[in-house]
Amino acid sequence: MADEVQFKKGMALLAGGVTLITTGSGAMRRGITATAVCSLSAKPPSLIACANKDTGTAQAIKENNIFVVNVLGDNHKDIAMVFAGATGIAGVGRFEHGNWADHSMGVPYLEDALVSFVCETGVCVPYGSHFAFIGEVKDVIMKGDEALPVAWLGSSFHSLSPVA
Ligand SMILES: Cc1cc2nc3c(=O)[nH]c(=O)nc-3n(C[C@H](O)[C@H](O)[C@H](O)COP(=O)(O)O)c2cc1C
Repeated sequence: MADEVQFKKGMALLAGGVTLITTGSGAMRRGITATAVCSLSAKPPSLIACANKDTGTAQAIKENNIFVVNVLGDNHKDIAMVFAGATGIAGVGRFEHGNWADHSMGVPYLEDALVSFVCETGVCVPYGSHFAFIGEVKDVIMKGDEALPVAWLGSSFHSLSPVA
């Protein structure tokens, strides 16, 4: 088995898009910042989102079987830090930051996210410290302007520019 420290050093070189995974409604809303999200299949539209079992969000998704993956732009660094727990705010208090709307399926989505994927949990795979949620994508909400995504690399946020 590889050494955990080496693993983390290696993964720090894998640039990742930054998302907020959200679930629940009203006072039961929960959310975390997450980079462990990727596309799974277009037929059917589906993705994988991984959340630490110890987070309130993972537990809430287990109960609700529905969640949203909100993709952040390079103007969203502050809210990413809030939903990472870096400001000390937990639970529903995180939703006092950002413009949140209620989706008809009963989950919160960030109105100015680049895109929000509303998912029902197809399968939840427990592995090590995390749950891997396979999300069946039921709705895709696009912001539709030229906003740029933000990437997480080597423990900091980066704007993206095209390679010449
Ligand atoms: C850039 C970044 C990416 C993160 N990615 C993940 C992730 O993919 N999965 C995860 O479980 N936690 C991830 N975290 C940590 C969670 O955001 C953090 O543990 C969470 O907000 C704690 O929530 P809690 O208060 O409900 O326990 C990430 C943190 C940062 C700063």
